[in-house]
Amino acid sequence: MDNDRIFEPFEDGLVQPPYRSEKYASTGRMAPDNVHPIAPRTATELSGPIFARSADEDRNLVSGKGGQAIGSLMRLKVRVLDEDARPQPGSFIEIWQANAAGKYQHPQDQRDAPIDPNFRSWGRGVVDANGEIDFITIRPGAYPVPNSGGWWRPPHIHLSAYGSTFLSHIITQLYFPGDPLNEIDGIFQGIPDPVARERLVLKPDADSGIPEAALGFRFDLVLRGRSQTPLEN
Ligand SMILES: [Fe+2]
Repeated sequence: MDNDRIFEPFEDGLVQPPYRSEKYASTGRMAPDNVHPIAPRTATELSGPIFARSADEDRNLVSGKGGQAIGSLMRLKVRVLDEDARPQPGSFIEIWQANAAGKYQHPQDQRDAPIDPNFRSWGRGVVDANGEIDFITIRPGAYPVPNSGGWWRPPHIHLSAYGSTFLSHIITQLYFPGDPLNEIDGIFQGIPDPVARERLVLKPDADSGIPEAALGFRFDLVLRGRSQTPLEN
């Protein structure tokens, strides 16, 4: 084994954001007041599901009936890795995001911003034998956070990953390199360690793009160890 890659647990309190964060107001309503009880794990929790569906159309967010979605086209390649950078095939990945105008295709988004009929806010699929999956999408727009005193979320993509059981589930958010709103975003800045924060920033990668059509970005989801990906609900 390469000694540089020996598993070491992350330093708690640095990589993962606190349950309750002053900078992320809604955590005040979601954070538990008491220690989590650990429920017993039975066959129901440990025996499934088996994720199999991975259709091309589920990974393409931009091809509506009326044509291509508005915005800067991009291809996002996600790899799922363990602490030794070994690919983890079989993970079920879902992403969701705002359109180029920062509007979600969701009834709770009542902001007066345009809906793009050719853009679908979600994608999903199963990672392949190399631990990889890709999505065709657009760079999302920023959007204002209601009742926040002028705070706008930077462009970001939400990502959920299931492992081999429903108990094995994580959620996080992906950010764009160099966006000035990253520096003042309460959620992104809620991760204490700046090095860990950078793990949520997409890496531009020409090989992941489509020549003269789509920018390429890469993201490595590292499940544990000293390079573990921070989680953000
Ligand atoms: Fe969002």
